[in-house]
Amino acid sequence: MIFNWGYKVKYFFTGILFMCCYIITTAQSNLPIYKNIKINIEDRIKDLLSRMTIQEKILQTSQSYVGNNDNPNNINKEEILSNTNPQIGSLIYYSDDAKMRNAIQTKAMNTRLGIPILFGFDVIHGFKNLYPIPLAVGCSWNVNLYEQACMMAAKETYLAGINWTFSPMLDISRDPRWGRVSECYGEDVYTNAVFGVAAVKGYQGNGLSNPYSIAACLKHFVGYGLSEGGRDYTYTEISNQTLWDTYLIPYQQAINAGAITLMAGFNNLNGIPMIANHFLLTDIVKKRWQLPGFIVSDWNGVHQLIEQGNVLNNKEAALKAFKSGVDLDMTDDVYKDNLLPLLNEDKIRITELDSAVYRILKVKFMLGLFDNPYAPENIIDDSSTQLHDKLISEKLASESMVLLKNKNILPIDFKHIHNIAVIGPMSMDSLDLMGSWIGRGKEIDVTSVYTALKRKLNNVINISFAKGADFDGTDTTGFEDAYKAAMTADLCIICLGEKGIWSGENASRSSIELPYIQEQLIKMVSKAKKPIVLVLFNGRPLALKNIEPYADAILESWQPGTMGAFAVADILSGKSNPSGKLDITFPLTSGQIPIYYSMRPKARPSSGNYQDISTQPLYPFGYGLSYSKFAYDSIKLSSSHIKKEEHLIARINVQNISDKDGLETVLWYITDKTASITRPIKELRFFEKKEIKKNNTKTFIFDIDPLRDLSYPDADGNKILEPGEFIIEANGQKASFDLIE
Ligand code: GLC
Repeated sequence: MIFNWGYKVKYFFTGILFMCCYIITTAQSNLPIYKNIKINIEDRIKDLLSRMTIQEKILQTSQSYVGNNDNPNNINKEEILSNTNPQIGSLIYYSDDAKMRNAIQTKAMNTRLGIPILFGFDVIHGFKNLYPIPLAVGCSWNVNLYEQACMMAAKETYLAGINWTFSPMLDISRDPRWGRVSECYGEDVYTNAVFGVAAVKGYQGNGLSNPYSIAACLKHFVGYGLSEGGRDYTYTEISNQTLWDTYLIPYQQAINAGAITLMAGFNNLNGIPMIANHFLLTDIVKKRWQLPGFIVSDWNGVHQLIEQGNVLNNKEAALKAFKSGVDLDMTDDVYKDNLLPLLNEDKIRITELDSAVYRILKVKFMLGLFDNPYAPENIIDDSSTQLHDKLISEKLASESMVLLKNKNILPIDFKHIHNIAVIGPMSMDSLDLMGSWIGRGKEIDVTSVYTALKRKLNNVINISFAKGADFDGTDTTGFEDAYKAAMTADLCIICLGEKGIWSGENASRSSIELPYIQEQLIKMVSKAKKPIVLVLFNGRPLALKNIEPYADAILESWQPGTMGAFAVADILSGKSNPSGKLDITFPLTSGQIPIYYSMRPKARPSSGNYQDISTQPLYPFGYGLSYSKFAYDSIKLSSSHIKKEEHLIARINVQNISDKDGLETVLWYITDKTASITRPIKELRFFEKKEIKKNNTKTFIFDIDPLRDLSYPDADGNKILEPGEFIIEANGQKASFDLIE
């Protein structure tokens, strides 16, 4: 007899499966609600809140610093690991490795309620594998590539055990004396909004609890970029109209895109410090814009209300910041020390504390930290992943670089150029190619320009080196070597610029000219009468009036990150075709500041200029050369007039009339000729970047939606859309149309 065991086996495994499901379901149902992954987050938070003591709640509102500096609020790893009940809700800068991070997290998970720690870090332009600073990224106009770079950074960050980055920075800045101009996406509203949204999408991915997703944090809300005199941490005077039609827009768009947290800035806005600004933090960010997560203060920002003359002591500071809408206090322990007394004195209600803690717990739940509190350990990215990541960084660096001048000496003509002299303080430098906020980037991983040129071109040409001078100072003893190197070369590549610490936080400079010693160096080398390519590495626009005449070509390379030097070598050699366009104006001198493209029209357009210098910048917003030549046809409009509910299609053909394939970005500007509240001379409202093969033509289209593209906010943030004549412009081509009732 042949036994048909089939059905018995099938029923046996079905039974086992049923048993497993029953056990899991029963186990889950025996868990407290907040630990039950099957329950929705809102109910899990409410259940957890109902179990928390006041002290446990207050703990969640503080972020501590694990470090070795003299910060009085420092806690050290040993203290945490030895403490059975670490009093930690969130840690900043802790990222030595996933193992140690998990050891700290284990301590937290073993406390009474097992609430995970939220680990935060400044991942501004990469974590280990650094891509260009944000100011450079805006010049790439390649939003998709930037989103990929942010995804790459998020993965590296996640694998280091960090779940939250204090990025993107959305502070529009038009004052290059301010060091933090390096951290924004330039002077334009639309550019900062588009790249800020791309960063949020790149960091947060398609689900915060998915592996490799990290929480974004929009900063420094709001108006920090208008710091008086370009000096950091100062007063900012901004009218409500300008707040709404300029500085608030990128934040609103990024929150609409799903940004989960926001950081209140250091600046004192119109007399009310941002940390104590209830109207903007609560009425606008939380109520009108519906920020889904929480608001964190900037470093020691709550305590700093004292220095800003807004409160007498930390207790008042805690009250004012908390009531204004700051949920999480970064590193000054002011909440940890003062919220309980304020609750006992009925100055803060327990419901208000619950509301702040709810927001913080919500982010931890959304990140999946309750269900998966530990970072993966010993993950080694395979070489193909590492190569892929480096290629993204190098491509973004290349597309961020802007060719500002080229008297037909680039790309290098190897038929006639056999000897190159690489000169200047940035020639052999690696550290400063990374810029500020370098995360866990390491100098040893960064190649210098000289080395990259040697590696890429050594079999083609002879390359010599002479530093010539330091970044600053008065030592000219290196000039002779530089001159000799120039005399033996067919072409000089002079690498000048700024040290990474000359921009970023607390790095303002009264003048944006390069130090005199660097200006002297290029002038001296020019006496050798050889063609000069000036390659710049800087974290802000520079005033180049004094040195521009000595260069036959100028490549703005910014602070391009780990792979930046290879990108420079590929552009100089012609392997890559530069495609960057400035996202910020380069003034002629520091004296022109502030100068930006979207200024309001003057009462007398041809008058009111400087008597001593031109009123035009050296290089305007949107400027950038290519090895290709692009010819723009006229703009074609689908109609000469539209109603508010209709769309208008603008088209323009761009032909690559050169023999080199190239990438071209079409920047579409709109001018509202007459408005109740005067509008800028023109405003960028759309852009698109495409490859155009040699001798080919591509059509660029801007689909104009009047409410989106022709309106402007009033001083209360209400959209105003008024009929009248509008001008649309692309690369100097213009067309007009009417918006009718
Ligand atoms: C700093 C910066 C801010 C940064 C924070 C944490 O002071 O202002 O950009 O995210 O503190 O490092």
